[in-house]
Amino acid sequence: MYRSHNCGALRMSDVGANVTLSGWVQISRDLGGLTFVDLRDRYGITQLVFNIEDDQPLCERARKLGREFVIRASGVVRERSSKNANRPTGDIEIDVKEFEILNASKTPPFTIEDESDGGDELRMQYRYLDLRRTPLQKNILFRSKLAIETRKYLDGIDFVEVETPVLIKSTPEGARDFVVPSRMNAGQFYALPQSPQTFKQILMVAGYDRYFQIVKCFRDEDLRADRQPEFTQIDCEMAFVTRDQILDTFEGLTKHLFKSLKNIELTDFPKMSYDDAMRDYGSDKPDIRFGMKFHYLEEDMKGHDFAIFDSAESIIGIVAEGIADEYSNKDMKKLTEWMQRPQIGAKGLVYIKYMADGSIKSTVGKFYDDTFLKSLGDKLEAKTGDVLFILSGELEKTQKRLNELRLEMGRRLGLMKEGDFKPLWVIDFPLLEWDEDSNRFHAMHHPFTSPKKNEIEKMMSGDHETLKNLKADAYDLVINGSEIGGGSIRIHDRDLQSKNFDLLGFTKEEAEAQFGFLLGAFEYGAPPHGGIAFGFDRLCAVLNGQSSIRDFIAFPKNNQGRDMMIDAPSPIDDVQMTELFLSSTHTATEE
Ligand code: AMO
Repeated sequence: MYRSHNCGALRMSDVGANVTLSGWVQISRDLGGLTFVDLRDRYGITQLVFNIEDDQPLCERARKLGREFVIRASGVVRERSSKNANRPTGDIEIDVKEFEILNASKTPPFTIEDESDGGDELRMQYRYLDLRRTPLQKNILFRSKLAIETRKYLDGIDFVEVETPVLIKSTPEGARDFVVPSRMNAGQFYALPQSPQTFKQILMVAGYDRYFQIVKCFRDEDLRADRQPEFTQIDCEMAFVTRDQILDTFEGLTKHLFKSLKNIELTDFPKMSYDDAMRDYGSDKPDIRFGMKFHYLEEDMKGHDFAIFDSAESIIGIVAEGIADEYSNKDMKKLTEWMQRPQIGAKGLVYIKYMADGSIKSTVGKFYDDTFLKSLGDKLEAKTGDVLFILSGELEKTQKRLNELRLEMGRRLGLMKEGDFKPLWVIDFPLLEWDEDSNRFHAMHHPFTSPKKNEIEKMMSGDHETLKNLKADAYDLVINGSEIGGGSIRIHDRDLQSKNFDLLGFTKEEAEAQFGFLLGAFEYGAPPHGGIAFGFDRLCAVLNGQSSIRDFIAFPKNNQGRDMMIDAPSPIDDVQMTELFLSSTHTATEE
């Protein structure tokens, strides 16, 4: 027998019991007469004691145990003389009578502690060691529970889990596809699904009116903290439902997951239109844990001989509370430089400080006198001690840049409180997005998204400007500024779907070649339907107040899309290349 108990199980009530434990040596301390070994498994840590007076050879052997050795130890549970209140097993220890090394270990390249000394890349290369660390274990166990609770909840309301294929044809979701060459079909490729979008719609046509799947999706896009090339969705679709029924259903799921995993009761899921979100926060995923809404100042600030403002399409400000006296000129300079970094690209940053003593300090005092600035402050409800930050320029760029400043000020002022969760539905996204570079429309969500009912006529006959302003029945679930999920009511009418492909620049032939199966299915009784997909990894991270999804994925990729442990991607040999009809002459190094 390897173990009678795990390393987290024993308590005072077990004192006197003969037990056997197996696990990894976390640390071994030699105190002369006594040797202490912390034995770890995924359930906890139990202290083992070896007494030189009881059994010298055993104790000598124990002294040689290195970190991460795998051992089995048997002995008697006894009460500890100095207890460790921080550990559930801290009241007891095992007086070891016998032990066996099951496997030795090389010294690990980093410490297997809560705070490891290993860098990111090293920890990814030795992921099996990193996964032994408690914080990662907690994340992986959390993820497992989240999946189980999701299944329980959706099963309870009649959703059916259906697996859809991984070797498919491209589904445009806005990213590049990963492709897989077909050996049996020379020169042809499968694409890995960016999402099971078309399959879930086909399932609606097939009559499975409540579908879900916890499913891997693949997108070849630039990576960030909240993006991986393969990630997981809770993918869902429903038939015979209105938008609000879908939102209610997934509000229910979200509430259930927060309650069952975090014991947090979410109550309010406000809805905000895309237009309002952009106007008030400059973002389609605003963090509404705090205010700091945008103020549009064109009417107030133009016409004062300040050329930059006079010629600007937009002048937008936010009020940051209570920092006027705290932020020195040097701090302001640093903040301005932060805004001028290429990632944000602001030209400059205008500020007006309403000092605690009632005075006003500003970068634009030459153009606006104190009386004006005071009344502007009053209008925007800036109090003494507050700072009004202002950016100007082209509307969309200015909104985007000010959004970054708002978030940064929110962070600095401690307004993004840990444990405070503010969900938000952002609704009524535009249907189409005009792309200046390629001179064509893109689908803002995806090509299967329906325009709002009252916009269909405009879509069929509208001019360019009308088309640009069409609204879709599309929505995102945002929690604390993170886009957790997105979905829409779908088009279920063949002609409307054809029209949409047409607007997106597909010829009839292209649409038929790529999506003929879906258009065909729409001719055999497609019910009205809609759905949503949650980013499962993001949901894990957000529920735990973290922004990076990497440590909620057992084997993630690094920022270059590499798996550091197995060293993928990697070249394949010439035989395989030939079999797949791939030419081995065109390699990256030659390019
Ligand atoms: P969408 O593209 O909005 O919608 O994706 C849904 C959710 O998936 C998450 N997500 C990601 N998570 C990690 N890494 C990525 N690279 C990544 N990309 C997306 C986000 C996002 O909100 N088929 C539609 C859904 C539908 O219409 O029902 C779709 O995939 O949290």
